[in-house]
Amino acid sequence: MAIDPTTNQNATRRETMLAFSRPSIGEEEIAEVVDSLRSGWITTGPKVARFEAEFAEYVGATHAIAVNSGTAGLHISLLALGLQPRDEVLLPPLTWPATANAIVLAGGTPVFADIDPATWNLSPTEVAAKITSRTRALMPVHFAGRPCALGDLQALAQSHGLKIVEDAAHAAGTAYGGKKVGALSWSSVFSFHPIKNMTTAEGGMVTTDDEALATELRLLRFHGVTKDAYKRAQGKGSAQYDTVRVGLKYNLTDMSAALGLHQLRRLDEFCRRRAELAGRYQEALADLPGLTVPAPARPEDCHAWHLYNVLIDSAQAGLSRDDFMLALQAENIGTGLHFTAVHLHTYYRERYGCAPGDCPVAEQVCDRIVSLPLYPGMTDQDQADVIAAVRRVVSR
Ligand SMILES: Cc1ncc(COP(=O)(O)O)c(C=O)c1O
Repeated sequence: MAIDPTTNQNATRRETMLAFSRPSIGEEEIAEVVDSLRSGWITTGPKVARFEAEFAEYVGATHAIAVNSGTAGLHISLLALGLQPRDEVLLPPLTWPATANAIVLAGGTPVFADIDPATWNLSPTEVAAKITSRTRALMPVHFAGRPCALGDLQALAQSHGLKIVEDAAHAAGTAYGGKKVGALSWSSVFSFHPIKNMTTAEGGMVTTDDEALATELRLLRFHGVTKDAYKRAQGKGSAQYDTVRVGLKYNLTDMSAALGLHQLRRLDEFCRRRAELAGRYQEALADLPGLTVPAPARPEDCHAWHLYNVLIDSAQAGLSRDDFMLALQAENIGTGLHFTAVHLHTYYRERYGCAPGDCPVAEQVCDRIVSLPLYPGMTDQDQADVIAAVRRVVSR
């Protein structure tokens, strides 16, 4: 790799494509999956039970209910609220469509509230302005792994009698005020999709201290029947079962839990490496014209750095966000788009009349945001390649 003497950076593009994200799967994970395959029990069973117990302990919650995606966890958490069609749930537009879709699927009405310009998380001030007599719940998203302003949101929820369903899809390893996300709200929903801080291929977990909610979630994730297949196979009690809810088929398999058990053990180390890489990006990119780096995390919080995002101001940077992504692709650097503003997606415009200008801060952020490669398996050289490519693209 040639070094440009004026910038002390790599002067040429990398030879191979650097993925935007890649899971870190170790030999222990592989052996545990093979063990499941050989054991004769591959769907929900003893490994799911162990994974739930260990995840609950990690976040400090009483209950953890494993599901086959974060989306499933959001859906059944909202079903457990018993939403009526005019019941409103507040959420930010800077999220994956799953957050809003879950509200609609559970029979409620999504109401988008704007984000804070510094943290890019749901703004408590905007939430306060959008609460009505029909509001039933708040759905903050810990965007990119940065904890939301949970203290202010909890105060609002308490004074208006609302539940908080945290979209903690990005927040495995996140802490708010020294406490792990997962034991701070009525329901916290994690995703273990392959790009997340820990993975089960596909999968998710709902954590709660509420016994009644935990019972309801266990019913809803498995058809609404009172006994699952593993309990029946073990011959515990009577073979009889009954349907007491119209539930779903959202249970996690033991093969996925096998991955999760070992990923969870490595989660703190994964987050440490992510934070190290994010810190280096912050230092290397802060001075670039037209590029805004994330605000520093509060010292009392732990930002899990699921994503590392920058904002591209096209006027100052000399190119649009989309052209920036294309230029990085030409440099063999993968990027991600997290996210386009959900309230402006066709379904939400047509069904709920959402329009540009409803959430101006989120709209501006979503028009400019891009995710740079960030994952524990990235080498220091990989990151140097990204930094050099970004600097070349922006200064062109
Ligand atoms: C903010 C957010 N919420 C929810 C989800 C849904 O999670 P899953 O893909 O596990 O269903 C995602 C997934 O990427 C997400 O980023």
